[in-house]
Amino acid sequence: MSNAMSTAPAILVTGGASGIGFAVVDAVLAEGWRAICADVSEPNLASAREKLGHRAELRFEHLDVADEDAVVSAVATCEREFGPLAGIVNSAGIARDIPALETSAKIFRQVLDVNLLGTFLVAREAAKAMRGRGDGAIVNLASVSGLVGNQGRTAYGSSKGGVIVMTQVLALEFAPLGIRVNAIAPGPIDTPMVKEMHSEKARAAWIDLVPQQRYGTPADVASAAVFLLDARKSGYVTGQTICVDGGFTATRLRTSG
Ligand code: NAI
Repeated sequence: MSNAMSTAPAILVTGGASGIGFAVVDAVLAEGWRAICADVSEPNLASAREKLGHRAELRFEHLDVADEDAVVSAVATCEREFGPLAGIVNSAGIARDIPALETSAKIFRQVLDVNLLGTFLVAREAAKAMRGRGDGAIVNLASVSGLVGNQGRTAYGSSKGGVIVMTQVLALEFAPLGIRVNAIAPGPIDTPMVKEMHSEKARAAWIDLVPQQRYGTPADVASAAVFLLDARKSGYVTGQTICVDGGFTATRLRTSG
């Protein structure tokens, strides 16, 4: 490993093989940093590998964030084989759009396991690795559905609301360790997850509620993640949730008079 390589920050991105996570991996590499693209889906990892190619500054890791032993082992292996972590982006997530009356305990637990517990496990292990190094950063993907009540999001919204409060608690506990912890709450972003979940009708309803009148792009979210990872740009920002939502959560009335 060359000198330049070993000093470039290494960023672990969970859910890195699709959508927002993939855009974050791309943006991290564009910054001249190094990236670990971690994902549970082999097909998504294969497609990401094909798109990004083989590079010394990039590592792919099969990881289920909800599996505690796997998370402990993956963080340790990445540290040992790829170099010290400088930051992580927790983008791994699953969504369910299902009425509360039809939401089983099984579905609820599945969503919490990946979105909330998985985010916690990766943050905890990364913090153990990054503590005391200075300028460590954790960025968690929350959602506007964790801030306001969106239909069909009992389990999903609860998991994301949990991520927002967890971000605040971790910011407090990790500040003395030299680690900042922030969250991003995206509005509707055009990714495979959303393409699967949003019908044409839902799409029109979202666009109507977003003042910028469009879906966001994965790159819109990735640039916010880069800002939060970079201590030169956001060194005094911790415990915050930044909405990247075209104004969705900031507004109500559309017409007057
Ligand atoms: P996506 O479905 O395109 O990508 C998510 C990736 O996470 C997939 O590659 C999937 O294999 C991976 N993943 C799922 N479970 C995993 C697990 N247990 N361990 C490791 N990897 C796992 O989804 P998208 O849209 O890119 O979402 C990324 C994050 O952003 C999620 O946390 C999502 O809840 C959040 N978000 C997305 C919004 C959107 O409109 N797309 C809006 C608000 C939040």
